[in-house]
Amino acid sequence: MPTRSELPTLPVLDAPSLRTRPPRAGARPDTGLEEYGTETTVLPSFHVWTLGCQMNMSDSEEMAGALLAAGCSEAAGIEQADLIVINTCSIREAAEHKVIGRMGVLGRLKEANPALRVVLTGCSVRADNQGVLQRRYPAVDLFLRPDEEPELTARLGLAGLTTADQLGDGRFQRVGRSVAATADRLPGTRAAAVEEGRIARSRGVKAWVPIVYGCDKTCTYCIVPFARGPERSRPYDDILAEVGQLAEAGYRELTLLGQNVNSWGHDLEPDRRFAHIAGGRELGRKQARDGRPDIAALLRGIDAIGDDEGSSGIGRVRFVTSHPWDLTDRLIAAMAECASVCEHLHLPVQSGDDEVLRRMGRQYTVEAYLDLVDRLRAAVPGISLTTDIITGFCGETEAQFESTLELLRRVRFDQVFAAAYSPRPGTPAVRLADDVPAAEKKRRLNELLAAQEAIGLELNQAWVGRRTEVLVDEIRQPRQHDHEVVAGRGPRLVGRNREHKLVHFDGPERLVGELVEVHIERAGPYALVGRRVGEPDHA
Ligand code: 5AD
Ligand code: SF4
Repeated sequence: MPTRSELPTLPVLDAPSLRTRPPRAGARPDTGLEEYGTETTVLPSFHVWTLGCQMNMSDSEEMAGALLAAGCSEAAGIEQADLIVINTCSIREAAEHKVIGRMGVLGRLKEANPALRVVLTGCSVRADNQGVLQRRYPAVDLFLRPDEEPELTARLGLAGLTTADQLGDGRFQRVGRSVAATADRLPGTRAAAVEEGRIARSRGVKAWVPIVYGCDKTCTYCIVPFARGPERSRPYDDILAEVGQLAEAGYRELTLLGQNVNSWGHDLEPDRRFAHIAGGRELGRKQARDGRPDIAALLRGIDAIGDDEGSSGIGRVRFVTSHPWDLTDRLIAAMAECASVCEHLHLPVQSGDDEVLRRMGRQYTVEAYLDLVDRLRAAVPGISLTTDIITGFCGETEAQFESTLELLRRVRFDQVFAAAYSPRPGTPAVRLADDVPAAEKKRRLNELLAAQEAIGLELNQAWVGRRTEVLVDEIRQPRQHDHEVVAGRGPRLVGRNREHKLVHFDGPERLVGELVEVHIERAGPYALVGRRVGEPDHA
């Protein structure tokens, strides 16, 4: 085993391939011994630090898979790594500060291990902010935009796994006042990674499947269209092939991913199989389908995988995130009719006031949103609904904030992910006055979360006494003050039901990854607690 100081210095940018170990700095080779040496390849051990959304987590699985396929190994932790890949989020300033605040630590790690290389990727890296990046992230050796991530191993000189035609084609497009990369190679590189088994999936029973990259929407506060470029869909057959592979491998749940997953397919070629799909959007920017596939057709295709005799299907299918523009009746009908599609939808509303929605560029009204909620609830009884809300957006008055509280009380969401507005440089909203003071944004946020906590608790209490199917995710290690772990019943397990409720119950470790029937006995605002059906209560 080479010691850490013997590891090669990873070249960055256009460096030759790291096939053999270069002479180590400061070493005095004994030439007489050379002929006994083997041609060793010492590849770095890596650590991927992922921030942000599930799309980032999925991208990190792909990068880790590429590094493993190149012969690298996963380090025990960030401090042991010779290569650190940071997959950033820039949705709010706080997400970027998490990484900026670690530059000092990374600098010290580099002093201790001169071979250490740091790569920064994800949404903080854009086509037009290279200068800023170097000042902001001094410990970083290489910056990759999200669309450049498939180049990781090649840019490090680690492997020729990425072929030339999959690499940068340098296409860019102006998005507002910024520039975004529009290269559409991501669907192709994903397909290659799937075919070659180069995705280091972090979990054995639940899988993420990206289906559309980028975003075409018009939200004025959002950095995503600038960070990830316009929407580019993966082909129908590629997605079905990946899902088929997951079904064969025994995965029980998959989540289709995209910044706007329900607009999938509009940019694909018309296809005879989808000639019956004609309608378009009713909200937002108009768009006709004209024989192109839509997410309803995709869900039906995935749902049918288990129908052929002898082939296993995926029991649970989810998709995030949906934009109200693309929540068509066809999609609602597919959700209602496909047994595998879970009874849960995350449908960000952002505000309960039409004027604020207009300034946010959401292009729907509260009434239109409520109409969607009614249609969903009529078609999928018991569906659980979650949403995103921003408090203190530019010009939001107290009365407009009250309208958002009113919307919460009307819809009664199962869960709300809320954040105070954070202006993002380069987005259209920076031209509006950020005139709600920080303390006021925070007060509104806290008031909103408190209102939601009461609603969440009431909705969860309605689960008490019911049975529900839980896919067990993990063992939750009992904390010392956790008096609730009942001795003798084994560790406390945590999983989710189809409605995406977090459920805790006791049971043996072997249940991790299994579907278990749980009888709900207690409820809190954020989770349910129950007992495995069939387990005696005095165990
Ligand atoms: N400030 C605060 N929250 C934001 N979001 C997106 N951009 C911003 C911003 N600039 C929130 C939205 C979105 C979620 C992913 O993050 O609610 O739905
Ligand atoms: Fe963050 Fe959005 Fe990028 Fe996800 S897509 S990492 S939420 S900025």
